[in-house]
Amino acid sequence: MSSFRGFGKVILLGEHAVVYGYPALAAALERGVEVSATRGDGMLLLSGLGAPEVRKRLPALLPPEFRAGEDALISAYQAILGSLGIDPRVLRHDFAVRSELPLGSGLGSSAALAVALARAISGALGLGASEPAIAAAAHAAESVFHGNPSGIDQAIAQHGGFGVYRRATGLVPLLADSIPLCVGLTGRCHETRTLVQRVAELHRDEPVMTSRVLEGIGVLVQEGASAVLRGDLVALGHAMSRNQEELAVLGVSCREIDTMCTLARGAGALGAKLTGGGGGGSVIALAPDDPEKVRAAWRSAGFESFVTTVGSGAEPLAAAGAA
Ligand code: MEV
Repeated sequence: MSSFRGFGKVILLGEHAVVYGYPALAAALERGVEVSATRGDGMLLLSGLGAPEVRKRLPALLPPEFRAGEDALISAYQAILGSLGIDPRVLRHDFAVRSELPLGSGLGSSAALAVALARAISGALGLGASEPAIAAAAHAAESVFHGNPSGIDQAIAQHGGFGVYRRATGLVPLLADSIPLCVGLTGRCHETRTLVQRVAELHRDEPVMTSRVLEGIGVLVQEGASAVLRGDLVALGHAMSRNQEELAVLGVSCREIDTMCTLARGAGALGAKLTGGGGGGSVIALAPDDPEKVRAAWRSAGFESFVTTVGSGAEPLAAAGAA
């Protein structure tokens, strides 16, 4: 049995604006999604954090035209097959998907799943799909989940690492010391698709204001990336908190996120913000001196959390190949 991984991610700065071509600063998490393939009769078994176990029969036909069906997971599977040019009837396999990331938490579980599943399907058939072919297949699946993904989650899921991502240039690695981050879970599930759509509607209805905010976020990303290169965590934290204010103006924050950011700053964090789509999901806080103090503040308000380290020193070594 072979198993294949995709990495989860955190966005330190720049979500949503990245959809409109601005840069964003992101890092891989060690946690991710693992998919293993065994000979079988076409079942998909999904298990993981925060989700009841799901079993689905995989369809033996592709839909006549590629449109997202009712079931996003099955549609994503079909999108991967279509992109890799595989006839589903040749696949005599079961796929077990195990997520180490809570689903719908803004930590890149869907992109990690898309990459790991594309790799597992290619591996099961011995196709040896190239990295660009895996990227195209994972993008097709992410489009089912997210509608109009910028590609940032998928780039990190596929390659790991830490750096500045732009739609036009992909991920450019940043060489920087490791940065410890607290990651807190709001406990509220979100749909990135809905939040990206909400920002698109705001952009349509109030183009001048929205463009100004998105541009401002782009500037904060540049400031944050230079701060990372200088090792200036105070400036990075400041950029994160200002980014959170701009995200709130875009309407993608929520009560839990605001509470967690306030708690984190009260517990000494240099900066705190939502990470990913917002509307729930996760919050990150930069508290290099005493991350446990932030976690304790969150815990006392009922929020779960963990500490992770990002930066080139913490870069996962292997891309998501066969384990
Ligand atoms: C989601 O992790 C990040 C968003 O910017 C959407 C995207 O870039 O595809 C909200």
